[in-house]
Amino acid sequence: MLELKNVGKVYRTERLETQALEGINLKVRPGDFLAVMGPSGSGKSTLLHLLGLLDQPTQGMVELDGRQVMDHDDVTLSHLRNEMLGFVFQSFHLVADLSVLDNVEIPLLYRPLSNRVRRDLALRSLGRVGLSSRVHHYPSQLSGGQQQRVAIARAIVGSPRILLADEPTGNLDSQTGEEIIAILEELNRKEGMSVVMVTHDQRFAERTHRIIRLFDGRQIN
Ligand SMILES: Nc1ncnc2c1ncn2[C@@H]1O[C@H](COP(=O)(O)OP(=O)(O)OP(=O)(O)O)[C@@H](O)[C@H]1O
Ligand SMILES: [Mg+2]
Repeated sequence: MLELKNVGKVYRTERLETQALEGINLKVRPGDFLAVMGPSGSGKSTLLHLLGLLDQPTQGMVELDGRQVMDHDDVTLSHLRNEMLGFVFQSFHLVADLSVLDNVEIPLLYRPLSNRVRRDLALRSLGRVGLSSRVHHYPSQLSGGQQQRVAIARAIVGSPRILLADEPTGNLDSQTGEEIIAILEELNRKEGMSVVMVTHDQRFAERTHRIIRLFDGRQIN
């Protein structure tokens, strides 16, 4: 359903060009559970941003359900992104002056739902990640693992078809990391959500269906 065809990404600044990705071919199918691995700077976050339609490639094509993403206008694109994709950022990106509950409701603000339904969906999503007892806390009052779980609750609250998670277990101890992986596995197995996860942890990667290895922006497997 989501496909990268010969995709490349060059970041251009005034002084230099960085080829962050080159010649990437990748299909994300319904029910897939994929891991993306590679050294720091190898292009993992860039790849995830392209899959998340958060950025455009400078070469090649991104297709969603057989249609080129670049053909859509901005409004359609943000609509598609909101409906289809959940994104967990490498650094959480929680809004500091909103409560946990309000943070999780954010993706639903763009949908025609009543406040009550929005609230119920957010509470259910927080229940799924085991945070029902922290809904009125603020991000700064949570541990790293709890903040990570809020970020996941926010990414899945709108029932996306694809969940993209950038190092969801980075900076966590192995027990908390294990809990996060168990949540992702359950979303994948029980709800058929496709999951693409960046990880540095070989043990976690081995629990996915397929590992995509990047080196200097190229796929090496
Ligand atoms: N906005 C940007 N402008 C210029 N160069 C960038 C930008 N974002 C990333 N890069 C460069 O692209 C390359 C790939 O970066 P990316 O963030 O995708 O790496 P990564 O594999 O996610 O690394 P890490 O494991 O450290 O998160 C790096 O060399 C980086 O410096
Ligand atoms: Mg990264």
